[in-house]
Amino acid sequence: MTPNNLVEFIRDAYQTTDFIPLHAPQFAGNEKQYVNETLDSTFVSSVGQFVSEFEKRVVNYTGSTAAVATVNGTAALHTALYLAGVQRGDMVITQALTFVATCNVIYHLGAEPVFVDVSPVSLSLCPHALESFLSAHADLDDNGRCVHHKTGQVIRAVMPMHTFGHPAQLDEIQAVCEKWGIVLVEDAAESLGSFYKGRHTGTIGEYGALSFNGNKIITTGGGGMMLCRSEEAGERARHLTTTAKVSHPYEFFHDEVGFNYRMPNLNAALGCGQIEMLDDFVWRKRRLAMAYEAFFNHSEYTFISEPDYAQSNYWLNAILCLILIAGITC
Ligand SMILES: Cc1ncc(COP(=O)(O)O)c(C=O)c1O
Repeated sequence: MTPNNLVEFIRDAYQTTDFIPLHAPQFAGNEKQYVNETLDSTFVSSVGQFVSEFEKRVVNYTGSTAAVATVNGTAALHTALYLAGVQRGDMVITQALTFVATCNVIYHLGAEPVFVDVSPVSLSLCPHALESFLSAHADLDDNGRCVHHKTGQVIRAVMPMHTFGHPAQLDEIQAVCEKWGIVLVEDAAESLGSFYKGRHTGTIGEYGALSFNGNKIITTGGGGMMLCRSEEAGERARHLTTTAKVSHPYEFFHDEVGFNYRMPNLNAALGCGQIEMLDDFVWRKRRLAMAYEAFFNHSEYTFISEPDYAQSNYWLNAILCLILIAGITC
């Protein structure tokens, strides 16, 4: 198969000779109506009915106990790691095959990212690589903390990312985290609409983070959502992401250092319209993926299919290319 065959196939699928973007958002539902309602109400910032409505809809869709809307996925990840207790000098284990935001938030907290390999099945963090790294480089101290041998740093969290929407092997990763006393935080920025053994990605770890950037399966322009496993954690996240202001009719009292991370109503209105279309978007992404899979079936490339334990949103499609260089397979 030549690259031209592939280009022809894609142009055929999209029926165009023009530039084809990686992902183009579509607004064919109630998005404009909801955004106009927001403009008419003048409540365009974070106080407004669509923010809590969007959170409710994400809870309904994902089955998460609580959801907290944020200005973007990076902010959701940052807050999640903060709540996971990540502190200056800690280590956080993640994968190098990800978007830079995954590592940025680790640095924002003064911690250090450690990369372990991904699994060829999901392209997401490999539980075996995780266990071998910890067995070779860490110990549990008397307080049950996982400590890196060489540096004495605490390994506080593990953050797998569900690459291109394909869920990581979460049961195995969670078992390793429990064994080593490490908090599991899921970077589910790319995987809204993806399920691991029937459970939505981002709801299995202690915290999860979604992104609604313009290139994601649904968009709010910019936006994110923290998924929490308890109402208490959700309340705490909501408090922290709204400048930690104690509710009062006129006093401004902030009981800790907080973030100004709450999603504006305008963006949430767009999100409410988009989430109504999500099932259709997932269906279309999956149908396109099936077409790619059939196309690559008898080629020298391996199409990355959803792992057999999962249902993927196939946010983006990937192929594995094996290149022979002077007898070495890469
Ligand atoms: C894996 C991953 N993590 C985090 C993010 C950050 O999300 P946002 O762009 O909404 O801040 C993205 C996407 O942009 C992503 O793909």
